Amino acid sequence: MSNDGSVTGNNSGGGENITGEDNSIKDNNIIVDVKDLNFYYGNYHLLKSVNLYFKKNSVCTLLGPSGCGKSTFLRTINRMNDYTEGAKLTGKVLINGRNIYDKSVDVVELRRNIGMVFQNPNPFPKSIFDNVAFGLKIHGIKNKDFIVERVEKCLKYAGLYDEVKDKFNKSALSLSGGQQQRLCIARAIATNPSILLMDEPTAYLDPVSTSIILNLINSFKKYYTIIIVSHNIQQAGRISDYSGFFLDGELIEFGEAGNFFTRPKDKRTENFITSRY
Ligand SMILES: Nc1ncnc2c1ncn2[C@@H]1O[C@H](COP(=O)(O)OP(=O)(O)OP(=O)(O)O)[C@@H](O)[C@H]1O
Ligand SMILES: [Mg+2]
Repeated sequence: MSNDGSVTGNNSGGGENITGEDNSIKDNNIIVDVKDLNFYYGNYHLLKSVNLYFKKNSVCTLLGPSGCGKSTFLRTINRMNDYTEGAKLTGKVLINGRNIYDKSVDVVELRRNIGMVFQNPNPFPKSIFDNVAFGLKIHGIKNKDFIVERVEKCLKYAGLYDEVKDKFNKSALSLSGGQQQRLCIARAIATNPSILLMDEPTAYLDPVSTSIILNLINSFKKYYTIIIVSHNIQQAGRISDYSGFFLDGELIEFGEAGNFFTRPKDKRTENFITSRY
Protein backbone atom coordinates (compact mmCIF):
# COMPACT_ATOMS: atom_id res chain seq x y z
CA MET A 1 0.00 0.00 0.00
CA SER A 2 1.25 3.48 -0.69
CA ASN A 3 1.00 6.41 1.61
CA ASP A 4 0.54 9.93 0.47
CA GLY A 5 3.87 11.59 1.36
CA SER A 6 2.04 14.58 2.73
CA VAL A 7 0.66 12.68 5.68
CA THR A 8 3.80 11.01 6.89
CA GLY A 9 7.01 12.43 8.19
CA ASN A 10 7.42 15.74 9.89
CA ASN A 11 5.72 18.07 7.50
CA SER A 12 4.43 21.21 9.10
CA GLY A 13 0.79 22.14 9.43
CA GLY A 14 -2.12 20.24 10.96
CA GLY A 15 -1.52 19.42 14.60
CA GLU A 16 2.26 19.31 14.43
CA ASN A 17 4.44 21.79 16.26
CA ILE A 18 7.79 23.16 15.27
CA THR A 19 9.67 20.19 16.72
CA GLY A 20 7.74 17.82 14.48
CA GLU A 21 5.90 16.26 17.40
CA ASP A 22 2.20 15.92 17.03
CA ASN A 23 0.37 17.89 19.65
CA SER A 24 -3.12 17.55 18.28
CA ILE A 25 -4.32 15.33 21.11
CA LYS A 26 -5.31 17.52 24.01
CA ASP A 27 -7.36 14.99 25.88
CA ASN A 28 -5.22 12.40 27.68
CA ASN A 29 -8.12 9.99 27.60
CA ILE A 30 -7.99 9.70 23.83
CA ILE A 31 -5.94 6.74 22.69
CA VAL A 32 -6.77 6.60 18.97
CA ASP A 33 -7.38 9.82 17.06
CA VAL A 34 -8.28 9.49 13.39
CA LYS A 35 -7.84 12.63 11.34
CA ASP A 36 -9.09 13.25 7.83
CA LEU A 37 -8.62 9.62 6.85
CA ASN A 38 -9.18 8.70 3.21
CA PHE A 39 -8.72 5.23 1.84
CA TYR A 40 -8.64 4.07 -1.78
CA TYR A 41 -8.70 0.65 -3.38
CA GLY A 42 -7.06 1.69 -6.63
CA ASN A 43 -9.31 4.39 -8.06
CA TYR A 44 -12.16 3.50 -5.73
CA HIS A 45 -12.31 6.16 -3.03
CA LEU A 46 -13.85 4.16 -0.20
CA LEU A 47 -13.28 5.97 3.12
CA LYS A 48 -13.96 9.68 2.82
CA SER A 49 -12.44 12.14 5.23
CA VAL A 50 -13.14 10.15 8.37
CA ASN A 51 -12.57 11.96 11.67
CA LEU A 52 -13.20 10.30 15.03
CA TYR A 53 -11.46 9.32 18.21
CA PHE A 54 -11.57 6.48 20.69
CA LYS A 55 -11.21 6.92 24.41
CA LYS A 56 -9.14 4.70 26.67
CA ASN A 57 -10.95 1.82 28.37
CA SER A 58 -14.13 2.20 26.39
CA VAL A 59 -16.09 0.01 24.01
CA CYS A 60 -16.95 1.55 20.66
CA THR A 61 -19.09 -0.20 18.07
CA LEU A 62 -19.02 0.67 14.39
CA LEU A 63 -22.21 0.06 12.44
CA GLY A 64 -23.31 0.38 8.85
CA PRO A 65 -24.63 -1.57 5.89
CA SER A 66 -22.55 -4.22 4.18
CA GLY A 67 -19.81 -2.77 1.99
CA CYS A 68 -19.74 0.67 3.65
CA GLY A 69 -16.09 0.25 4.71
CA LYS A 70 -16.25 -0.85 8.37
CA SER A 71 -13.69 -3.64 8.06
CA THR A 72 -11.41 -1.53 5.91
CA PHE A 73 -11.58 1.23 8.50
CA LEU A 74 -10.80 -1.19 11.34
CA ARG A 75 -7.77 -2.44 9.44
CA THR A 76 -6.40 1.09 9.07
CA ILE A 77 -5.90 1.12 12.85
CA ASN A 78 -3.34 -1.70 12.84
CA ARG A 79 -2.06 -1.14 9.30
CA MET A 80 -3.43 -4.42 8.07
CA ASN A 81 -4.34 -2.81 4.74
CA ASP A 82 -0.62 -2.30 4.12
CA TYR A 83 -0.54 -5.60 2.27
CA THR A 84 -3.35 -4.72 -0.13
CA GLU A 85 -1.95 -4.01 -3.54
CA GLY A 86 -3.06 -0.74 -5.10
CA ALA A 87 -4.47 0.60 -1.84
CA LYS A 88 -3.66 4.14 -0.74
CA LEU A 89 -4.30 6.01 2.46
CA THR A 90 -4.14 9.70 3.31
CA GLY A 91 -4.70 11.37 6.65
CA LYS A 92 -3.54 10.29 10.08
CA VAL A 93 -4.20 7.65 12.67
CA LEU A 94 -2.65 8.86 15.89
CA ILE A 95 -2.16 6.36 18.68
CA ASN A 96 -1.13 8.04 21.89
CA GLY A 97 -0.36 11.12 19.81
CA ARG A 98 1.87 9.42 17.24
CA ASN A 99 0.90 8.90 13.61
CA ILE A 100 1.13 5.16 13.02
CA TYR A 101 1.74 5.80 9.32
CA ASP A 102 4.91 7.68 10.10
CA LYS A 103 7.85 5.97 8.39
CA SER A 104 9.68 5.49 11.68
CA VAL A 105 6.89 3.39 13.23
CA ASP A 106 7.78 -0.22 13.98
CA VAL A 107 4.79 -2.15 12.61
CA VAL A 108 5.60 -5.29 14.60
CA GLU A 109 5.54 -3.31 17.83
CA LEU A 110 2.37 -1.53 16.69
CA ARG A 111 0.63 -4.89 16.24
CA ARG A 112 1.85 -6.08 19.62
CA ASN A 113 -0.10 -3.20 21.07
CA ILE A 114 -3.22 -3.89 18.99
CA GLY A 115 -4.89 -7.29 19.19
CA MET A 116 -7.35 -8.31 16.49
CA VAL A 117 -10.19 -10.81 16.40
CA PHE A 118 -11.95 -11.68 13.16
CA GLN A 119 -15.43 -12.76 12.13
CA ASN A 120 -14.43 -16.38 11.54
CA PRO A 121 -12.65 -18.01 14.45
CA ASN A 122 -9.23 -18.58 12.88
CA PRO A 123 -6.97 -20.50 15.26
CA PHE A 124 -3.70 -21.69 13.78
CA PRO A 125 -3.45 -25.44 13.11
CA LYS A 126 -1.36 -25.77 16.25
CA SER A 127 -2.00 -26.82 19.83
CA ILE A 128 -4.22 -24.76 22.12
CA PHE A 129 -1.12 -23.72 24.08
CA ASP A 130 0.90 -22.76 21.02
CA ASN A 131 -1.92 -20.60 19.66
CA VAL A 132 -1.86 -18.38 22.71
CA ALA A 133 1.93 -18.47 23.03
CA PHE A 134 2.39 -17.58 19.37
CA GLY A 135 2.59 -13.80 19.72
CA LEU A 136 4.90 -14.03 22.71
CA LYS A 137 7.35 -16.17 20.75
CA ILE A 138 7.17 -13.84 17.74
CA HIS A 139 8.18 -11.04 20.06
CA GLY A 140 11.22 -12.97 21.21
CA ILE A 141 10.03 -14.00 24.65
CA LYS A 142 11.84 -17.21 25.61
CA ASN A 143 11.27 -17.54 29.35
CA LYS A 144 9.17 -20.71 29.54
CA ASP A 145 7.70 -20.03 32.98
CA PHE A 146 6.63 -16.57 31.86
CA ILE A 147 5.04 -17.98 28.73
CA VAL A 148 3.13 -20.67 30.65
CA GLU A 149 1.91 -18.14 33.19
CA ARG A 150 0.83 -15.73 30.49
CA VAL A 151 -0.96 -18.41 28.43
CA GLU A 152 -2.89 -19.58 31.50
CA LYS A 153 -3.79 -16.04 32.44
CA CYS A 154 -5.05 -15.18 28.97
CA LEU A 155 -7.11 -18.36 28.77
CA LYS A 156 -8.64 -17.41 32.11
CA TYR A 157 -9.37 -13.86 30.93
CA ALA A 158 -10.99 -15.31 27.82
CA GLY A 159 -13.16 -17.60 29.94
CA LEU A 160 -11.76 -20.75 28.35
CA TYR A 161 -9.25 -22.07 30.88
CA ASP A 162 -11.53 -24.51 32.71
CA GLU A 163 -12.63 -26.07 29.45
CA VAL A 164 -9.11 -26.65 28.11
CA LYS A 165 -6.83 -26.94 31.15
CA ASP A 166 -6.39 -30.70 30.68
CA LYS A 167 -5.71 -30.56 26.96
CA PHE A 168 -3.27 -27.77 26.24
CA ASN A 169 -1.49 -29.98 23.70
CA LYS A 170 -4.62 -30.86 21.73
CA SER A 171 -5.16 -29.19 18.38
CA ALA A 172 -7.01 -25.88 18.55
CA LEU A 173 -9.06 -27.10 15.62
CA SER A 174 -10.67 -29.74 17.87
CA LEU A 175 -12.48 -27.00 19.81
CA SER A 176 -16.04 -25.85 19.09
CA GLY A 177 -16.59 -22.60 17.16
CA GLY A 178 -17.36 -20.64 20.32
CA GLN A 179 -14.32 -22.08 22.09
CA GLN A 180 -12.14 -21.33 19.07
CA GLN A 181 -13.28 -17.71 19.13
CA ARG A 182 -12.43 -17.43 22.83
CA LEU A 183 -9.04 -18.98 22.03
CA CYS A 184 -8.53 -16.30 19.37
CA ILE A 185 -9.38 -13.68 21.98
CA ALA A 186 -6.82 -15.23 24.36
CA ARG A 187 -4.28 -15.15 21.52
CA ALA A 188 -5.11 -11.52 20.74
CA ILE A 189 -4.51 -10.38 24.32
CA ALA A 190 -1.38 -12.48 24.95
CA THR A 191 1.01 -9.69 24.02
CA ASN A 192 -0.70 -7.35 26.46
CA PRO A 193 -2.12 -4.91 23.92
CA SER A 194 -3.87 -1.71 24.88
CA ILE A 195 -6.30 -1.82 21.95
CA LEU A 196 -8.47 -4.70 20.80
CA LEU A 197 -10.05 -4.62 17.32
CA MET A 198 -12.93 -7.01 16.74
CA ASP A 199 -14.59 -7.48 13.36
CA GLU A 200 -18.03 -8.98 13.99
CA PRO A 201 -16.60 -11.41 16.56
CA THR A 202 -19.91 -13.14 17.23
CA ALA A 203 -21.27 -13.27 13.68
CA TYR A 204 -21.04 -17.04 13.38
CA LEU A 205 -21.61 -18.06 16.98
CA ASP A 206 -24.60 -19.60 18.71
CA PRO A 207 -26.51 -17.47 21.27
CA VAL A 208 -24.75 -18.98 24.30
CA SER A 209 -21.26 -18.44 22.87
CA THR A 210 -22.31 -14.95 21.76
CA SER A 211 -23.47 -14.09 25.24
CA ILE A 212 -20.21 -15.33 26.78
CA ILE A 213 -18.20 -13.13 24.41
CA LEU A 214 -20.38 -10.06 24.97
CA ASN A 215 -19.87 -10.46 28.72
CA LEU A 216 -16.13 -10.80 28.17
CA ILE A 217 -16.08 -7.58 26.14
CA ASN A 218 -17.81 -5.80 28.95
CA SER A 219 -15.27 -7.00 31.49
CA PHE A 220 -12.33 -6.26 29.16
CA LYS A 221 -12.72 -2.52 29.12
CA LYS A 222 -10.87 -2.36 32.43
CA TYR A 223 -7.78 -3.36 30.47
CA TYR A 224 -8.31 -2.40 26.85
CA THR A 225 -9.87 0.04 24.44
CA ILE A 226 -12.18 -2.08 22.34
CA ILE A 227 -13.34 -1.19 18.84
CA ILE A 228 -15.91 -3.57 17.40
CA VAL A 229 -17.61 -3.82 14.05
CA SER A 230 -21.08 -5.20 14.54
CA HIS A 231 -24.10 -5.99 12.45
CA ASN A 232 -26.30 -6.53 15.43
CA ILE A 233 -27.78 -3.27 16.68
CA GLN A 234 -29.24 -4.74 19.85
CA GLN A 235 -25.90 -6.26 20.82
CA ALA A 236 -24.13 -3.03 19.95
CA GLY A 237 -26.55 -1.06 22.13
CA ARG A 238 -25.90 -3.45 25.01
CA ILE A 239 -22.11 -3.25 25.03
CA SER A 240 -21.18 0.19 23.64
CA ASP A 241 -19.96 3.30 25.35
CA TYR A 242 -19.62 4.99 21.96
CA SER A 243 -20.95 4.16 18.57
CA GLY A 244 -20.42 5.28 14.98
CA PHE A 245 -22.45 4.84 11.81
CA PHE A 246 -20.79 4.51 8.39
CA LEU A 247 -22.57 4.85 5.07
CA ASP A 248 -20.76 4.58 1.71
CA GLY A 249 -17.40 5.18 3.36
CA GLU A 250 -18.50 8.30 5.24
CA LEU A 251 -18.80 8.50 8.99
CA ILE A 252 -22.32 9.88 9.31
CA GLU A 253 -22.53 10.04 13.07
CA PHE A 254 -20.38 9.23 16.06
CA GLY A 255 -21.00 9.76 19.74
CA GLU A 256 -21.96 8.44 23.14
CA ALA A 257 -24.02 5.29 22.83
CA GLY A 258 -26.90 6.57 24.96
CA ASN A 259 -27.73 9.37 22.55
CA PHE A 260 -26.64 7.49 19.47
CA PHE A 261 -29.15 4.71 19.98
CA THR A 262 -32.02 6.69 21.45
CA ARG A 263 -31.69 10.16 19.89
CA PRO A 264 -29.52 9.94 16.77
CA LYS A 265 -28.83 13.33 15.24
CA ASP A 266 -28.83 12.24 11.63
CA LYS A 267 -31.92 10.87 9.92
CA ARG A 268 -29.78 8.28 8.10
CA THR A 269 -28.54 6.90 11.42
CA GLU A 270 -32.07 6.80 12.73
CA ASN A 271 -33.30 4.97 9.63
CA PHE A 272 -30.54 2.41 9.97
CA ILE A 273 -31.13 1.82 13.66
CA THR A 274 -34.89 1.64 13.51
CA SER A 275 -35.12 -0.59 10.48
CA ARG A 276 -32.94 -3.14 12.21
CA TYR A 277 -34.63 -3.21 15.56
N1 LIG B 1 -8.94 -5.83 -1.25
C1 LIG B 1 -9.90 -5.11 -1.83
N2 LIG B 1 -9.78 -4.65 -3.09
C2 LIG B 1 -10.74 -3.92 -3.67
N3 LIG B 1 -11.92 -3.59 -3.07
C3 LIG B 1 -12.10 -4.04 -1.83
C4 LIG B 1 -11.12 -4.83 -1.13
N4 LIG B 1 -11.60 -5.11 0.11
C5 LIG B 1 -12.82 -4.53 0.18
N5 LIG B 1 -13.11 -3.90 -0.97
C6 LIG B 1 -14.36 -3.15 -1.26
O1 LIG B 1 -14.48 -2.08 -0.35
C7 LIG B 1 -15.82 -1.94 0.08
C8 LIG B 1 -15.90 -1.99 1.59
O2 LIG B 1 -15.48 -3.26 2.05
P1 LIG B 1 -15.44 -3.59 3.60
O3 LIG B 1 -15.08 -5.02 3.70
O4 LIG B 1 -14.58 -2.62 4.29
O5 LIG B 1 -16.97 -3.34 4.01
P2 LIG B 1 -17.76 -3.72 5.34
O6 LIG B 1 -18.52 -2.51 5.75
O7 LIG B 1 -16.85 -4.35 6.32
O8 LIG B 1 -18.81 -4.81 4.80
P3 LIG B 1 -19.45 -6.09 5.56
O9 LIG B 1 -20.44 -5.55 6.53
O10 LIG B 1 -20.10 -6.86 4.44
O11 LIG B 1 -18.34 -6.86 6.20
C9 LIG B 1 -16.62 -3.04 -0.62
O12 LIG B 1 -17.22 -2.49 -1.77
C10 LIG B 1 -15.57 -4.04 -1.01
O13 LIG B 1 -15.92 -4.72 -2.18
MG1 LIG C 1 -16.72 -6.27 7.15
